Amino acid sequence: MKNLEALSLKVANNQLYILDQQLLPDEEKWLLVESVDHMVQIIKDLKVRGAPLIGIAASLSLALFTNENTTWNEFKALEKKLRESRPTAVNLMNALDRMLEIAERSSMDYQKIVEQAENLFAEDVELCLQMAKAGADLIEDGDNILTHCNTGGLATVGLGTALGVIVQAHQQGKKIHVYVDETRPLLQGGRLTTWELEQHNIPYTLICDNMSGKLMAEGKVQKVFVGADRIAMNGDFANKIGTYNLAVICSHHKVPFYTVAPQTTVDTECASGAGIPVEMRKPEEVRGIYGSFGEIRWAPKNAKVFNPAFDVTPCGLLTGIVLDGKVLSQGELKSGVLKRILNKG
Ligand code: MRU
Repeated sequence: MKNLEALSLKVANNQLYILDQQLLPDEEKWLLVESVDHMVQIIKDLKVRGAPLIGIAASLSLALFTNENTTWNEFKALEKKLRESRPTAVNLMNALDRMLEIAERSSMDYQKIVEQAENLFAEDVELCLQMAKAGADLIEDGDNILTHCNTGGLATVGLGTALGVIVQAHQQGKKIHVYVDETRPLLQGGRLTTWELEQHNIPYTLICDNMSGKLMAEGKVQKVFVGADRIAMNGDFANKIGTYNLAVICSHHKVPFYTVAPQTTVDTECASGAGIPVEMRKPEEVRGIYGSFGEIRWAPKNAKVFNPAFDVTPCGLLTGIVLDGKVLSQGELKSGVLKRILNKG
């Protein structure tokens, strides 16, 4: 396989390395992926995370742990383990579908399998650029933008989705400021988005998730950009838990609310948000917190917990979706534009 390099994933001498995102921002430690089972654990532990990145990391590991002697049945068994590692981000299933398709069509031609994984990497870099360009046009000089979770180079192998748009606007010379939702329970905003914004020298302010309403009531947020983990054909979408709350507050305060995603995040088999599976995670993540700083619990040891990793925002709350190089309005989404673009009738 070619050598490949992204912010939190690299391939060197046919070995796959992952930047352990659980240790950021304080420690930058690269993990050598030792097997498909190891990759599955890395995905489950959110050491690698973000919808597009999960799909690409899984596909690269599948290609790298396949060889000339791997049979179709062995390949399918490895693929299945990866597919089941996380349930909501459809980029994982979409990428693995494409790996399976090439393996079957080429009768397990090892070189073709490797090329397909490399193509998925190159495609994501290109789609990130398209999203960044199309989305940055929506941002004006002086805007205060609010974002949720982490949607940058740590969630993709390119510039990012929502954060890529923000970075692009900054690189165009627009004077912007970003409010970063810390994103409980796992703090992807507080730990990762802040880290990326500092690398790009973009001014930001970190807030707790329950502070966005006050900011909007005071007229301090001009636009909200978030990512997506699965977009249904009617424009409903799943994203990090808390996105729906944000969409409702934006609707009340008439703050434009966009999601930014590549076409690899669309589930062409899913008619509406009601069909999106939502991952439920461990109660420990809500009873306290853990990371490179250690582990702390503040709730009673057996406190009953509700911990969905994602929520679903109905299309009716969206101003629009930045999909690849296009901005699709709520009206277009409701009139079935995704079906037309993706040739699904
Ligand atoms: O649980 P995570 O950290 O994988 O969740 C990530 C998100 O929800 C992102 O907003 C989403 O993947 C889009 S980022 C490209």
